[in-house]
Amino acid sequence: MSSFFTIEWQDGAVVMLDQRLLPTQEVYRTYRDYRGVARAIKDMVIRGAPAIGVAAALGIALGARQLKRIDNPAEFERLCQVFAATRPTAVNLFWAIKRMGGVYARTRALGREAICEHLEREALQIHAEDIAANRRLGRYGATLIAKGATVLTHCNAGALATAGYGTALGVIRAAWEQGKKVSVFVPETRPFLQGARLTAWELSKLGIPATLITDSMVGHFMQKGAIDCVVVGTDRTAANGDVANKIGTYTTAVLAARHQVPFYVAAPTSSIDLHCASGALIPIEERAAREVTHVLRQQIAPTGIRVANPAFDVTPHELVSAIVTERGIARDPFGQSLSELVRKGGKAKKEKGEKERT
Ligand code: MRU
Repeated sequence: MSSFFTIEWQDGAVVMLDQRLLPTQEVYRTYRDYRGVARAIKDMVIRGAPAIGVAAALGIALGARQLKRIDNPAEFERLCQVFAATRPTAVNLFWAIKRMGGVYARTRALGREAICEHLEREALQIHAEDIAANRRLGRYGATLIAKGATVLTHCNAGALATAGYGTALGVIRAAWEQGKKVSVFVPETRPFLQGARLTAWELSKLGIPATLITDSMVGHFMQKGAIDCVVVGTDRTAANGDVANKIGTYTTAVLAARHQVPFYVAAPTSSIDLHCASGALIPIEERAAREVTHVLRQQIAPTGIRVANPAFDVTPHELVSAIVTERGIARDPFGQSLSELVRKGGKAKKEKGEKERT
């Protein structure tokens, strides 16, 4: 049992742990208005690709009850658009919105109460599926981790970035739970410090040995032979295996290639975008200059300095050793292996649906 939760549906409201305040304060926020949930995604109260998708699904379920004319598709579309406009890179957001839209289309004729109930059920299903997928993915990923390995991750792809358990941290947790005695290097992940504030916090809670470093130390430790493998999450993985993830991931992948350190990506199939042919087509979010000029509330750069703040970068698939999903491990050629894994699930779902209907 975890001592915290990332996001839950409680008595018709969405409740989230405010990740901006971690690790010093554990404050849960309750949202009864969908606009608050959308704002929370934008402002990073909740972040991490799968968690963003789950928040959008629960937010839409909440918002549906606030619509005056729920049977009007234009109103429902406007509600979805509010969420689609929050953060552009994580494909889980659009994947979850599409699933909610599918439920709406199938139930629109059934009347207000039934529509709302089905939307709520779907959002809770997305929440539950995410945790189950992460646990399965973790077990697949653990097969890649040797006993006693030192693993480097980047950003936070833990329980906080998902509905629970985590993707990259899920792999590390699964290895730990199997008694492999792993330890973890955690780069702080400027500018938002997801590594220092969130991953270090999660690993401390789990009792997994962790060493916090600054981002610029990664090369040094690889050169010293201190890192056995890298495991990171992803916000969107393109059909050819190019991986968008937190800024700095690409640098880490280049360093890993230079030092022959395997570079693994933990990607639930909800983070794989087969409609996106390559990483060049992935929209990269540009965030506020203040995140760079300030650390927490402290200004660290001269007022008025020009700033660039891309929140993500793209690691080309040639630098990726394997992509771990909840349906198995994809390897080069990723174009083929990823599409087989994603379609495998689609086929299983279709068959299950047909069985349920008969
Ligand atoms: O800007 P963030 O904190 O939402 O970015 C999060 C990441 O880059 C994670 O590595 C990614 O979403 C995978 S989370 C399982």
